[in-house]
Order: sequence, then C-alpha cells, then structure tokens
Amino acid sequence: MTATREDPVLVVDKLTKKFGPRTAYADVSFTVGRGEVFGFLGPNGAGKTTTVRSLGTLITPTSGRATVAGIPLEAANAVEIRERIAIMTEAPGLYGRLSVTENLQYFVGLYHLSDGEQRIKRALEAVNLTDRAQDTCNSLSKGLRQRVGLARTLLNDPEILFLDEPTSGLDPVAARGVHDLISGLRDRGVTIFFTTHRLAEAEALCDRVAILNTTLRSIGKPSELREQLFHKGLLVATAAPLADPGRVFAGLPGVESWDTDARGGAPGSYRLAVSDPAVAAPEVVRALVHAQADVLSVAESRHSLEDVYLELVNEDVEATQR
Ligand SMILES: Nc1ncnc2c1ncn2[C@@H]1O[C@H](COP(=O)(O)OP(=O)(O)OP(=O)(O)O)[C@@H](O)[C@H]1O
Ligand SMILES: [Mg+2]
Repeated sequence: MTATREDPVLVVDKLTKKFGPRTAYADVSFTVGRGEVFGFLGPNGAGKTTTVRSLGTLITPTSGRATVAGIPLEAANAVEIRERIAIMTEAPGLYGRLSVTENLQYFVGLYHLSDGEQRIKRALEAVNLTDRAQDTCNSLSKGLRQRVGLARTLLNDPEILFLDEPTSGLDPVAARGVHDLISGLRDRGVTIFFTTHRLAEAEALCDRVAILNTTLRSIGKPSELREQLFHKGLLVATAAPLADPGRVFAGLPGVESWDTDARGGAPGSYRLAVSDPAVAAPEVVRALVHAQADVLSVAESRHSLEDVYLELVNEDVEATQR
C-alpha cells in the first residue's frame, strides 16, 4: 500500500500545549497520510510525548485544531477517537500481578471488544509472546513488558497507532522485532506515528519524519531533508597531498567548490561540492590521473538522518546561546 497525503488520517493545525507558563509544544502543523509511517524526532523535552498524548485524547491542547482518524479532536469526541486509535506511552500501563492474558482480557473488556480470545491470540502472535501468555507481568523483563504493551495496542485493530519510543530499552533483536511489526502493520494499511531517539530506526522505517524542538523544525522524507540541508558532495582521497589542488579541481564540469577535508583529517583528503556526483566523479578521476596523483578513493559523501538532526538541533542550541 502506498501512503497518500491526499487521504490524511491525521491533520494537525497550529496545535499548542502549555502547562502553566511552560510551553510543551507550539504552533505545530502537519498531516499524515493513511498507511504512512511517520517518525517524530526531537531532543529530550521537545514536546514529543505531549503531542502524542494530545492527539491520543489523553490531554487537551491549549489551542489549535486537529482531526484524528477523520474526527475533530474535541473532548466530546474522545471516546469515538479512542475506538479508532491505539496509544502506547512510555510506561506500558499493565497490572503487574495479572498474567499477560489477563491483562489483555481486561483491556478487551474495557474497550467492549468482541471475539476477545481471537484478538488476544493474534496480538500475542504479532509480538511473539504466545509462550509467555500465562506469566504475570511482574515476572517479565522490561522489554517483554514493552511487548505486552504493544500487544495491547493491537487489540482494537487501530487505524492509527501512536507509539512513544517503542524500542526504548529493547535489545537489538527485540527492537528488530518491533520494526518488523511496524512494517507488517504498515502493509495492512495501519498508520503509525512513533517517536524515537534512534535515528537509524527512523531512517529505515519512516516514510516521513518531523523534527520537533517545541516548534516543528523540519518535516519530509529523510532523503528530502538531507537534500534541503546538505549539498551533494564527493570525498576524494589521494596517497599524498596534491601540490596544487586548485589547479586540479577548479573549473571541472560539475564541481562547484572544493576544500581540504577538515573533518576527515588525513592529508590528501578533499571535499568537493558538486551538482551531480555521476557527472563530476569521472571528471575528477581523469583530472587526478592527469595530475599524476595516486588516487585512493573517490566517493559520494553521504549524510545520514542523524547528520540532518544534529544540524537542526545544534542550530537551535546555538540560537538560544546567542
Ligand atoms: N504534566 C506536565 N506538567 C508540566 N509540564 C509538563 C508536563 N508534561 C510535560 N511537561 C513539559 O513539557 C515539555 C515537553 O515534554 P515532553 O515529555 O513532551 O518531551 P519529549 O519530547 O517527550 O521528551 P523526551 O525525549 O525526554 O521523552 C517538557 O518541558 C516537560 O517538562
Ligand atoms: Mg517523551
């Protein structure tokens, strides 16, 4: 299923939440399409959890509007919205002395769901917990409790799943399990809105990401954010520093500027800003060979979502220090 923003399941319009004098998030606007996996990134205290809690009807925003699963976000609609979504906040909220199955039975009852046994069976299978179904939640490790929390969110077949740091504290194998679960749900058309501090996870899973730092700093596909923020580049390494790098690089087709690679550090490393790496790279190699340089490598410089994130969040830190 391809996500379409023309068919949004989540529309957020200038939403703001204040706790007394403290602004948790302000003036946040975005839309999420049906079936999209949407990542919400931002530093500690950025307002991610508060946004999730607001959209999940757990707290009331101070101002602005939103539509969740087609329903206006208003106190009077909270029950109707909650029937169509599921939320997992930072603490899974389970009864420790009850077994995994008993916990899920409790929520089946709370939500007045039919076919409880089937739902519980499917949810436990989805998070790979069938063999722990009779254990009490107190006896489970943190990661296993997290998975029970995830199973709970699947009980009502939500249209939108809000997950607040679903892989926090999970080992790499369990985190991969959650990733597979998210991908599987996406394939079934479920919209997933999740917060994370794991940027590689956001990069791998999300159709689009938003970077929040009280206000929305950026939003788009990871590749779009990279292109907005960073020029395309080539990294050149030669065995020894070039006698006159300006003569080699300046004026080559597709090369906009060049510099010694201050970050790479090694002598003989150069960073070139190029319009199109596929055009520039062969020209650069030819010029280097012509200059009798010993070429070690010519590679496209790649920026990760982490680079984008750090650039944006560090800009904010610098702005507040000014
Ligand atoms: N119930 C509350 N009362 C007062 N202030 C609150 C409340 N909940 C959140 N805040 C404040 O709102 C801001 C945003 O908090 P929030 O928990 O949404 O951040 P977050 O982005 O989820 O951070 P983290 O990455 O640490 O989970 C913080 O300054 C926080 O202290
Ligand atoms: Mg949080």
